[in-house]
Amino acid sequence: MPTRAADPVALKPPGRTDPDTHSKRTKGHRPLVTETANTTRWGILSTGRIAGLFATGLASAPGAELVAVGSRSQESADRFGDRFDIPRRHASYADLAADPEVDVIYVATPHPGHKEAALTCIAAGKNVLCEKPFALNVGEATEMVEAARAKGVFLMEAMWTRFRPAMVKVREVLASGAIGDITLVTANIGWQAGFDPASRLYDPELGGGALLDGGVYPLSFVSMVLGAPSEVTGVAVLGKTGVDEQEAISLLHPSRAVACVGVTIRANPISLATIVGTQGRIQIDHDFHKPTSFTVSVDGQEPERHEYPLDEGNGYQFEAIHVMDCLQQGLTESPVMPLDESLTIMNTMDSLRAQWGVRYPQETG
Ligand SMILES: NC(=O)c1ccc[n+]([C@@H]2O[C@H](COP(=O)([O-])OP(=O)(O)OC[C@H]3O[C@@H](n4cnc5c(N)ncnc54)[C@H](OP(=O)(O)O)[C@@H]3O)[C@@H](O)[C@H]2O)c1
Repeated sequence: MPTRAADPVALKPPGRTDPDTHSKRTKGHRPLVTETANTTRWGILSTGRIAGLFATGLASAPGAELVAVGSRSQESADRFGDRFDIPRRHASYADLAADPEVDVIYVATPHPGHKEAALTCIAAGKNVLCEKPFALNVGEATEMVEAARAKGVFLMEAMWTRFRPAMVKVREVLASGAIGDITLVTANIGWQAGFDPASRLYDPELGGGALLDGGVYPLSFVSMVLGAPSEVTGVAVLGKTGVDEQEAISLLHPSRAVACVGVTIRANPISLATIVGTQGRIQIDHDFHKPTSFTVSVDGQEPERHEYPLDEGNGYQFEAIHVMDCLQQGLTESPVMPLDESLTIMNTMDSLRAQWGVRYPQETG
């Protein structure tokens, strides 16, 4: 039987309010799941690549029951249902949202579909875990957040990196003050995608581009460490379909800390992240966005190595466990991945795309 990871420790960088103050509770801290069973009933909305990985991860999340799937077609819902032994298979996202046997729905469509799918689920009173990037832009993300808050249901961006045990420990080290005041954060991400104009990564209709797909990881990491930036600038290389294929991003924060982010879908970089403080530094090893090890070097001391090998599951179970913990506590927002922070990150990405002239067809007007 898998064991639960320790509760993630909320990070309190200088000048930020306690993340827990962002999270709202239902009246009387009413659990947001059925009180009769000790399980949380999940539905998965869409049947693509990440939907399959998440379904696999759920099998290692104690208390999670994968009861339903929704697809644009019955055939695909059935195929996915057969693959993961899911009893309830719906031929539309709306039917999944309306399923009374489901507590929480994981949204895993391409980015331009996140808003509509999340709104459909929220309107039906469902709790939602929505893939990253949270939406196509901050306007869409704001609609989602407002709808969830008005309805009193749980909503969170599925930034799975934050819930990996190694990243929970990184936050603990930061909160201890061991490396002093943070002055510099760096993070790179990327992979050689291979050009395919019809693919989700390159097609503007599907929200293509390196920033929204990969860049959201280092930007979210910087945000976790330093909070909201006061200035953001970047240079990007646009490809044949008009979307960004690689970029270098600089961020300045109110504390005067700076951050440096590199993103590419043209090659395979070493995806390291470093946090540099006045008394030491943390280096998170490749791939920092699915971390299993890091080193803390405090000035004048021997470096300390931290290893968190993935003993079971594929790593997606940790975000699911966190969601279920929030639901059990009656929280409608996560203290670890707060909605206001997802909005700030979307805002940063909007600002960068504006600098580069990357606009999606859905954004006309
Ligand atoms: N957390 C992570 O590690 C991670 C990794 C990869 C991707 N993601 C995120 O997850 C989302 C989905 O990525 P993916 O790689 O799983 O995509 P994918 O393999 O293309 O699957 C997307 C699924 O969404 C549904 N869909 C709805 N509208 C669609 C449309 N217009 N075109 C194509 N499919 C559509 C389809 O399912 P039905 O036909 O069943 O409706 C499709 O199978 C993206 O937002 C991405 O950023 C996260």
